[in-house]
Amino acid sequence: MKHLLAIEDLDRADVERIMARAASFAEVGRRDIKKVPTLRGRTIVSLFFEASTRTSSSFELAAKRLSADVVSIKAAGSSVDKGESLKDTIATLSAYAPEAIVIRHPFAGAAKLVTAWTSAAVVNAGDGKHEHPSQALLDAYTLLDRLGSLEGKRIWIVGDVLHSRVARSCALCFRMMGAAVTLCGPPTLIPRGAPEALGTEIAYDLDGLGEADVVYALRMQRERMNESFVPSIREYAARYQIDSRRLGPRQLLMHPGPVNRGVELSPAVIDGPASLITAQVESGLVVRMAILYEILAGGEPRGSGGRRADAELPAPTPIGEPA
Ligand code: CP
Repeated sequence: MKHLLAIEDLDRADVERIMARAASFAEVGRRDIKKVPTLRGRTIVSLFFEASTRTSSSFELAAKRLSADVVSIKAAGSSVDKGESLKDTIATLSAYAPEAIVIRHPFAGAAKLVTAWTSAAVVNAGDGKHEHPSQALLDAYTLLDRLGSLEGKRIWIVGDVLHSRVARSCALCFRMMGAAVTLCGPPTLIPRGAPEALGTEIAYDLDGLGEADVVYALRMQRERMNESFVPSIREYAARYQIDSRRLGPRQLLMHPGPVNRGVELSPAVIDGPASLITAQVESGLVVRMAILYEILAGGEPRGSGGRRADAELPAPTPIGEPA
């Protein structure tokens, strides 16, 4: 695998190989010295143009546990604040000859665009509303660890699907691993064409939630909403919040974080026995170690990260506008 840009680029064998590698790295975290020399002498740039706690910290720690040299840059406080373009930022950082660039950016397709400007491997850490592949892989790992298999499992993804790159990546990944996926939310927050594009069912209320083995709640992404998609947050919570009344005793609960407590989830279920939220964060470290291993040590050796010729921005697969 040259880059990790999207779950839609992977097949089941790719996902299973990353899951197996992540499981092997879990043992490293139980050692006194939690480090292996696998990527010694390699340089990884972590470049975040949007806020992040989990993804940025776990990629950085994953790279360090593999003994890579890491340069971490947040756009805020960098020369992006002075008006430097994405292309010039990539050219500047590529001068250090990194083997990989991990990038989060608000525009869909940004990670793929970056592959045209560097010979470093590119890992998409979230590009706008398009994809967040490492999140889906860590979520699949968390569920496989708990359930053994996703074959025939029913997973409901509930909430702001429209603005969610996590929903798109998770739906594709969970289906690839054999699960049946239902997207649930207000009609204004379900993209038109999503069932056809993602192979899912759709629900506009929680009446059928009892069939789910796993309830995956999404954050209300108010920072991406430039118009009113729900009458009020209070009304949204009344209809779609997952709370102790709606979550059955055999159901598992997931959320990518950060959580709006009291909006998409009640505090009691966040901290309750069904919650896998902390397990998801733990999985993030070993799965991101496995991703870096896969692209930097699992295939052919890469050249150093110099500039490449320009290329056009390839459009990500659209999943349409609100229904
Ligand atoms: N789930 C996720 O991407 O979290 P961060 O925004 O904290 O990285």
